[in-house]
Amino acid sequence: MSAELTVPPLSELRLRRSVKWRSFPAEVLPLFVAEMDYGLAPPVAAALTEAVGRGDTGYSTPGPEFGRAFAGFAARRWGWEPDPGRVLPVTDVGVGVVELLRRLVRPGDPVVISPPVYPPFFDWVPEAGGRVVEVPLAGGRLDLAGLEAVFATHPAAYLLCNPHNPVGRVHTADELAELVRLARLHRVPIISDEIHGALVLPGATFTPLLSVPRAAEIALSVVSASKAFNVAGLKCAAIVAASTRMAQLLERLPREVTERTGHLGLIAAVAAFDEGDSWLAALITTLSARRDQLGALLSSRLPALRWSPPEATYLAWLDASALGPDEEPRDRFLDEALVALEPGTRFGAAGSGYVRLNFATSPEILDEAVTRMSTVKV
Ligand SMILES: Cc1ncc(COP(=O)(O)O)c(C=O)c1O
Repeated sequence: MSAELTVPPLSELRLRRSVKWRSFPAEVLPLFVAEMDYGLAPPVAAALTEAVGRGDTGYSTPGPEFGRAFAGFAARRWGWEPDPGRVLPVTDVGVGVVELLRRLVRPGDPVVISPPVYPPFFDWVPEAGGRVVEVPLAGGRLDLAGLEAVFATHPAAYLLCNPHNPVGRVHTADELAELVRLARLHRVPIISDEIHGALVLPGATFTPLLSVPRAAEIALSVVSASKAFNVAGLKCAAIVAASTRMAQLLERLPREVTERTGHLGLIAAVAAFDEGDSWLAALITTLSARRDQLGALLSSRLPALRWSPPEATYLAWLDASALGPDEEPRDRFLDEALVALEPGTRFGAAGSGYVRLNFATSPEILDEAVTRMSTVKV
């Protein structure tokens, strides 16, 4: 079992200039956006420091090492061996998804998503010209019967979140196999956003969609080191294809889509995928401990909030509807307790009454946040 990662003091965290630390005044504890408070993985920090020291900050020129590094990581972690030649770097997951949708969607075509889900899913679809069709989760799981009914109407694509932000659900191999069966039956391409794939916590097993038998014919994945290694600002993700048919879609992407990948992002991703395993093990140990701590804090200080501990991610989806039917719990926690959370309604109508809390922080900050939240009258 690895030792837990530490968090710099709040005074140092507040010197960060990312959105987590620049959106609220200093008295607010920011537990909203999905950034972590831990320091960088040492191999990632070393690779970036070396590049900056050399003035190596020009344009990226993605080489074979990126696909090779991701393929090695996927094989070690999930026993899945993607073809390194079919791992295409792109700027970020959002760009990867939108550019794929642009190839699959004609103006006004329906694209299916399963709310509550990562808010930009609602924006990426119209950005690519499509129209969102919702098949909400049922009891926190994919509603396979609902998806079957909608797939039968031949939407242009299904956008899967695997694992699922914000509920933290790791879809099982059986669920994904059934999803693939339905998608093949009705010829609905699937784009699987797997940015949280490396953040699966003890007790759950991640199944990359493309490792599911026959998924490769109908699906593509978008992956990144950015969430697990906290390097989202460096702008690097990848689209992965696993069949000739889907690889042809990649060939239709403009070269610029790849050329706009962040140079430092690529450097960080190769270091993370090649050398980040032991730091990642410590991160998972840490997040698992914070998840347990949050459970204990909620039951002792805020029992009115309901939750299912997430199987993956460092995001807790909290049912705060006990605060009252007309309340926006996020506003109450922000205004009365000075804790910034994500409002559940950003994740779709199904998120009404919920807040999402980011627990990738220190035990002290998490304790302080729940203590503050417990002062809000239920
Ligand atoms: C499911 C999901 N997809 C994508 C992203 C953002 O990825 P990127 O910054 O690479 O677009 C996030 C960020 O938290 C996320 O949770």
